[in-house]
Amino acid sequence: LKSVGILGIGSCLPEKEVTNFDLEKMVDTTNEWIIERTGIKARRVADENIATSDLATEAAIRALKDANVSAEEIDLIIVATITPDMAFPSTACMVQKNIGAIKAASFDLEAACSGFLYGVAIGKQFIATGTYHKVLVIGAETMSRIVDWSDRNTSILFGDGAGAVVLGETEEGKGVLSTYMGSDGEGGKFLSLPAGGSRMPSTFETIREGLNYVKMDGSEVFKFAVRIMGKAAEEAIKLSGHQLQDIDYVVPHQANIRIIEAAAKRLKMPLDKVHVNLEKYGNMSAASVPVALDEAIKEGKIKKDDMVVLVGFGAGLTWGSCVIKW
Ligand code: ACO
Repeated sequence: LKSVGILGIGSCLPEKEVTNFDLEKMVDTTNEWIIERTGIKARRVADENIATSDLATEAAIRALKDANVSAEEIDLIIVATITPDMAFPSTACMVQKNIGAIKAASFDLEAACSGFLYGVAIGKQFIATGTYHKVLVIGAETMSRIVDWSDRNTSILFGDGAGAVVLGETEEGKGVLSTYMGSDGEGGKFLSLPAGGSRMPSTFETIREGLNYVKMDGSEVFKFAVRIMGKAAEEAIKLSGHQLQDIDYVVPHQANIRIIEAAAKRLKMPLDKVHVNLEKYGNMSAASVPVALDEAIKEGKIKKDDMVVLVGFGAGLTWGSCVIKW
């Protein structure tokens, strides 16, 4: 099997910022409450005319440039999202058209906030086996379109954005050393968007009852997240043949600073070795991990030969992780 690495990375964040102070004017909440319970200070929100495929396309173009790979070389495009432009065609097909990836196969992947990590695991297989040479994996969301801005339990948490990587062959012993994924449908009820699918098509009634918005049992998701983040990271490290002490940096899903702190404690990682950017962007679901990774690289937090763990959890329930030697 061939070694598979990240050849380039890029991200795209909408310009418009919604701060906690802005939210104070919309729902019964305070800046202090949001910071204390989540760590979030602001989030980005896409303008009305911008959809998920637009953010995904821009992130993809930046990743291709960073990798010095042309769109025509891409064999496969995977877009991880729970906020596709529409049910079909897939957002990945829209990106394929926008960037001119003429030979690429394209599909969307739905594993909520774990989606990017699922995408890396899938993309890696195609390259490792020699089936494909270059795969674009994108995590992209416009969460602002599916949150009820009058619900203080959810509206404070989420933001919009996109991150993309180009996967390709790399030096032996480097790149994505291991991937790990899991799911537990029993916990699906804790985090869902009930209406708009075949079970409950959208009607005036579903809209009136708010069933076309994210529904969440925050404390159940919190308990699950605290348990699974550390475990998923440990599993990926074990599968990579390494140990906790070999890890130089962790890029976790950005849902809540308290979840990240609990995971860091379990992994005995000091917080300065864990990337945190949720204060600026909130939880961008599938986009959180690639955007954080892009930022960590650009800030020089990840250096050559570093061992990096990416780890996330989300609706499904799902979780995913991987170990990358840079
Ligand atoms: N402002 C002020 N008060 C609030 C707010 C708010 N925005 N939201 C809730 N409260 C109130 C509650 O009503 C409650 O009041 P009560 O005690 O009178 O009933 C009180 O604050 C405490 O509420 P809790 O829900 O216990 O607060 P908690 O500390 O658990 O924090 C939170 C809630 C932030 C949602 C937390 O549970 C969490 O982060 N959970 C994980 C959520 C998550 O990560 N979801 C995304 C998963 S990723 C994906 O796949 C999309």
